[in-house]
Amino acid sequence: MKRVVAILSMLSVVAACSTQESTKPGYVNAEMSIVAHKVKKLIPYVFSPEEFKKPENDDLIKSHLRELDRFSHTLPEDKLEALLGKDPIIHHVVQNIQRDTQGAIQSFKYKNYKYARASIKNVVFQCFQCHTRTGQGVKYDHWDLDIGQLKIPATEKAELFIATRQFDEANKALERVMVKAPETYNQQPFEKEEAIKKMMIAYIRVQNDPKTALNRLEYFSDLKTTPKYILSSMSHWKKSLKKWLVEDAAKNQSGIDQQMATAKKLANDSGYDAAFVEYLRISSRLHGDISRSKNAEERAEKYFKLGQVYEVLKDAGFWDVPLVYYEACIKEKQKSAIAKKCFKEVEQEITLGFTGSAGTFIPAAEKNHLNRLRAMAGY
Ligand code: HEC
Repeated sequence: MKRVVAILSMLSVVAACSTQESTKPGYVNAEMSIVAHKVKKLIPYVFSPEEFKKPENDDLIKSHLRELDRFSHTLPEDKLEALLGKDPIIHHVVQNIQRDTQGAIQSFKYKNYKYARASIKNVVFQCFQCHTRTGQGVKYDHWDLDIGQLKIPATEKAELFIATRQFDEANKALERVMVKAPETYNQQPFEKEEAIKKMMIAYIRVQNDPKTALNRLEYFSDLKTTPKYILSSMSHWKKSLKKWLVEDAAKNQSGIDQQMATAKKLANDSGYDAAFVEYLRISSRLHGDISRSKNAEERAEKYFKLGQVYEVLKDAGFWDVPLVYYEACIKEKQKSAIAKKCFKEVEQEITLGFTGSAGTFIPAAEKNHLNRLRAMAGY
C-alpha cells in the first residue's frame, strides 16, 4: 500500500484506492494509474489537430508516445485475469493498446498525423472496452485533467470519461448531445444514436441500473430533438428494460439460454437494433459468469455465446470481438463439439470479411490460420 501511494503521489495522481482494494490479489490500480497518466499527457495534443502537428511540440509528443509504449507493456494480464476471470478480451485489448501505440509512433515519425491521432483515439477506445465489460471495478472521479473543457465532440468526451472510469460525467456529456437541437441535419442523428447507445452501455453494463436507463429513455422519447428513426428501437429497449425490472422485483431472472432465445427472436422479428439492450444485458452477464466458470468446457460455451452476442453489438465499435471469442472457444476446448461449432463461425466471419463484389479472395496467411484452427477444432 505504501509503495503504491508513493508511486501515485510521485505522479501527482490521486488514487481512489482503499486499503481493502489494494490488498485484493488482482490489484491492478497502480499499473492502471500509470498508463492513464501517460494517456492523459497525450490527450490535449491528440484531440487538437493543430497542436499535434506544431513543430515545437514534436519532441514532447514523441517522448509521451514512447512512455505510453513502455508502460503499456506493464499492463498485467495475469492480474487482470485473476480479477476479471479468464476473459480473452483482456489479452485482445491489451495487445491492441500496444499495437496502436506502436502504430502511432511510426505514423508520427512519418508525419502522418491524422493516422497517429486516430491510433491514440483507438487506445482510448480499448480502455473504454475493458471498463464497460461489467460493473466490476472502482469508480474513479478525480482525474486532474478537465475533460469537460476540451473542445471535442461530446461523444469523444464521454469515451474519455469512461476510459478513466468517470461514468457519471460520461452520462452527463452524452445527455447534452441528446438534448442539443440539430445543427447540421445530416450529421446530427448519428451522433445522437452513438450517444444514446454509449449511455445504455454505461447504465446497463457498468452501473447495472435498468431503472435509470428506462427513465432516461422515457425522457428522450418525448424530446423533439431525438431523431425519429431511433424512436422505434428505443421503444423496444424500453420494453426490454421494463421486463428486466419486473424480473428483478420478482427475483426471477430467466436462464441465459432463455434470454438468448428471447433476444434472437426480437432481432429476427424487429432487427438487430431492437435487440440492442437485450444483448447488452446478456453480454454483461456472460462476462461476469466467466470468472465463475469451473472448467474449459463451460468457458468454451460462454465464449461461443459471447461471439454470438458481439455479432449483434459489433457496430457499437466491437468489430473484431466476435472472432476473438470464437477463436478462444476453439483453443479452450480443442477437438470438441463446441470447438467445431465455433470454427464454423470463424470460417464464416473470415470468408465474409474477404468477400467483395468481385468474389471471395482469402489471403494465404489467413488461409493457413484457418487451417490451423480447423485442425484444432478437430475437423
Ligand atoms: C483489460 C482490462 C482493462 C484495460 C485494457 C484498461 N483497464 Fe483501467 N482498469 C481495469 C480494472 C479492472 C480496473 C479496476 C480495478 C479494481 O477493481 O480496483 C481499472 C482501473 C482503472 C483506473 C482507476 C485506477 C485507480 O487508481 O483507482 C483508471 C484511471 C484506469 N483504469 C484507466 C485506464 C486507461 C486510461 C486505460 C487505457 C489506456 C485502461 N484503464 C485500460 C481494467 C482495464
